[in-house]
Amino acid sequence: MMPSAAFARRRFPFDAPGYKTRSPAAMRNLTEDNMTDAVIAGIGEATDARLKEIMVRLVGHLHDFVREVELTEEEWLAGIRFLTAVGQKCDDRRQEFILLSDVLGVSILMDAINNRKPAGATESSVLGPFYREGAEEMAAGANLSKAQGGEPCIVSGRVTGPGGTPIAGALLDVWQTAPNGLYETQDPQQPDFNLRGKLRTDTAGRYEFHTVKPVTYPIPDDGPAGRLLGALGRHSYRPAHIHFIVSAPGYVPVTTQIFTEGDPYLDSDAVFGVKSRLVARYVRHETAADAVERGVTAPFHTVDYDFELVAEG
Ligand code: BEZ
Ligand code: FE
Repeated sequence: MMPSAAFARRRFPFDAPGYKTRSPAAMRNLTEDNMTDAVIAGIGEATDARLKEIMVRLVGHLHDFVREVELTEEEWLAGIRFLTAVGQKCDDRRQEFILLSDVLGVSILMDAINNRKPAGATESSVLGPFYREGAEEMAAGANLSKAQGGEPCIVSGRVTGPGGTPIAGALLDVWQTAPNGLYETQDPQQPDFNLRGKLRTDTAGRYEFHTVKPVTYPIPDDGPAGRLLGALGRHSYRPAHIHFIVSAPGYVPVTTQIFTEGDPYLDSDAVFGVKSRLVARYVRHETAADAVERGVTAPFHTVDYDFELVAEG
């Protein structure tokens, strides 16, 4: 955690040797200068150490924020109403708080902190709210698309450990939107589990599946997170991508996305998930004979992308 310089200079009462929690009677006549210490001092001595650390920093930053911007009562109420609307937008299919975390860059910041990788290893990116457990495990070369439409696309590559050692039997859990920009869970017209599947690598660490070329799409922007984007003059688009969770025994799993080279939103992703090494080149093929040979229809696309996992420990 990297606190601001002002925050790092703050001295908390409980940091003092021999500090004892204040009695409630000592918490009277508080001012804007000693309010923060009073709230922190009220945390019980038996509180779980990590909860205490988090709450001390949270209260400290929150109070500093209120002081810094001199929050008005109207603004405080607008914030309360906004957070209430975020909660009210949530149900078992929609998680507006995660969406808010995504558009504020909190999800990708937390992802970066929790998934530091050595050079060469495949970087992670946000999971997003549309992952669904229970996708079918499919044979190599299977088609994830259960519906018509979209340009056929063959995705292949290798899963390796450090130094390019092939990993046999690695599992790739894959999901993406349909050509209309919607995940099957957002769209009653799509078959159940459309464009979701699990693939395993062969003895050479190779995988291959057929799908449709992913498209640019807007994240759900019909709720408070979308209204905030609008108020901030931001768009809600994500560059085209395919999601992957790649795992293998003895290796750290990676949750990531493969982006499409040339996508106009690579440098303005609404959720800040793009990393240059996750951008792949799609090759367009026009010839019918090539398509027949690959078991698709022309025009079709191919993309080759290798994943490198970090060994556990
Ligand atoms: C996604 O890529 O599926 C996604 C990520 C963050 C917010 C919304 C959607
Ligand atoms: Fe996505």
